[in-house]
Amino acid sequence: MKPVKVGLLGLGTVGGGTALVLSRNAEEIARRAGRGIVIDYAASLDLNRITELGLTTIRTTQNALDVVTDPDIEIVVELIGGYTIAKDLILRAIDNGKHVVTANKALIALHGSEIFAAAQEKGVMVAFEAAVAGGIPVIKAIREGLAANRMQWLAGIINGTGNFILTEMRDKGRAFADVLREAQELGYAEADPTFDVEGIDAAHKLTILSSIAFGVPLQFEKTYTEGITKIAAEDVKYAAELGVGYRIKHLGIARRTEKGIEQRVHPTLIPHNRLIVSVDGVMNAVVVKGDAVGETLFYGRGAGAEPTASAVVADIIDVVRAMTADPTNRVPHLAFQASTLADTPILPIEDVQTAFYLRMRAIDRPGVLADITRILGDRSISIEAFIQKEPVRSGNEVDIIMLTQKVREANMNEAIAAIEKLDSVCGAVTRIRVETLE
Ligand code: HSE
Repeated sequence: MKPVKVGLLGLGTVGGGTALVLSRNAEEIARRAGRGIVIDYAASLDLNRITELGLTTIRTTQNALDVVTDPDIEIVVELIGGYTIAKDLILRAIDNGKHVVTANKALIALHGSEIFAAAQEKGVMVAFEAAVAGGIPVIKAIREGLAANRMQWLAGIINGTGNFILTEMRDKGRAFADVLREAQELGYAEADPTFDVEGIDAAHKLTILSSIAFGVPLQFEKTYTEGITKIAAEDVKYAAELGVGYRIKHLGIARRTEKGIEQRVHPTLIPHNRLIVSVDGVMNAVVVKGDAVGETLFYGRGAGAEPTASAVVADIIDVVRAMTADPTNRVPHLAFQASTLADTPILPIEDVQTAFYLRMRAIDRPGVLADITRILGDRSISIEAFIQKEPVRSGNEVDIIMLTQKVREANMNEAIAAIEKLDSVCGAVTRIRVETLE
């Protein structure tokens, strides 16, 4: 059989990795796919990349439209990123009857429903494993390996840059900006790194995971999103001292509750004895809990050229395999689950219940602690563990750190607002949610 001709859009970090992996492992890939797979046409604005990647024998262009409209191309691999041009190109490719593989999490999280509807209509496949957690095949795991389960919750470290920054700050005391620069140089960070540090990248990925796990429509705008920029070195230290000892990780959490689906991304205290707290550096990990299987943990590289290419190429292989299957059955397999749960609410963060780590600075005088604990007690917020440090600065301000029991976020918001109004409390209260992942 003739090899399948792939058109590649974008020769950046992941595009380059994809070209290298496809060529280096061509033999195994052909055996697994049942047909050879070749890049036949590549689009890149930077023509130097074509020489750098040794793609001089294939057709190349600076105009990606040439690739998506080319009659010989059967699979278009979109690795440009962003929402606008990439979306137009994917829709054009689908319209031209081409299968699509993409690593574009922002696009899937925001416009996936429109893209899948177009693919369904045209009877082509859209695969996007590389959009979530780079090289970890977590989408395939949930959709295929765990397909028997009613999913209960999932929680993941799904932004390598953020995890790298938190790890380096904790272990080496490095400055935030310095570590971020290194992540950019290593090709981990997004084109706009605020997507990494403000949690937007993780929210894109969590939106996709939640949709796959629970069958709800993609609702990025309802994902609560908080980044890592406000985590201070002292929070890391105090978290380790409190109660059983905690570590702070930036987690994406999706959980099925009786009232709806929790979908949230934020810094989280996790007890030190949970496996996921050892996931450091650029590594990603996702814990998925299903009713039949219990907890499963998926771990690996969530960013970088070849790890992400590993997922892209696996999707190309899947598409090639499915191309030989009955056309009426291919779309549900590789595109999206048709949602039967469109009405299931995604809970606003105010309705989510978690335990909290609180850090505040107060003036060291009689009655201050009583005022703070009364505010918490009046709202039925129970304190689980507590640290008060000796006075700092001018000698009369103390750091007070608490771990509370579970409480509705709305009640905690009220309590924090009341605490911040106390004359004896200086500045804002730092709050970090706690998850025991049980
Ligand atoms: N910027 C992302 C990260 C790349 O750091 O995880 C992979 O999506």
